[in-house]
Amino acid sequence: MQPGSQQTALSAGGMLELDNLRRRYGDVTALDGLSFAVPPGQVFGFLGPNGAGKTTAMRAIVGVASLDGGEVRWRGHPVGPQICRRIGYMPEERAYTPRCGCSSSSSTWPACMA
Ligand SMILES: Nc1ncnc2c1ncn2[C@@H]1O[C@H](COP(=O)(O)OP(=O)(O)OP(=O)(O)O)[C@@H](O)[C@H]1O
Ligand SMILES: [Mg+2]
Repeated sequence: MQPGSQQTALSAGGMLELDNLRRRYGDVTALDGLSFAVPPGQVFGFLGPNGAGKTTAMRAIVGVASLDGGEVRWRGHPVGPQICRRIGYMPEERAYTPRCGCSSSSSTWPACMA
């Protein structure tokens, strides 16, 4: 995944589909039409240099980050709160702090509730 070259669709009809995801932060384009599909039964990773948009994409998948455009689908259906609650996500950034324990973090990060 290279910044500004997120157009490649790996395959269609996957278990998890990212369809033309777009997200800007001011002048910064974090996601520029990111599309890929994860086939069922596979371990899947996506790589890219710093700033390529990996974290933004993960946050969009689990519903923590809003999108300017595009859609995330699970088994063909848009990902909503019901599906998000079943996704485990360990962010790169520290998710738990002494003042913000597991239960309150789980409400902030619903996707941590696998
Ligand atoms: N909340 C935010 N506010 C402003 N800019 C942001 C925000 N989140 C991400 N960005 C910007 O969006 C771009 C993509 O960031 P992102 O964190 O998704 O990349 P990344 O691939 O996860 O990078 P890294 O490998 O450093 O973790 C970067 O230019 C980043 O500075
Ligand atoms: Mg990141």
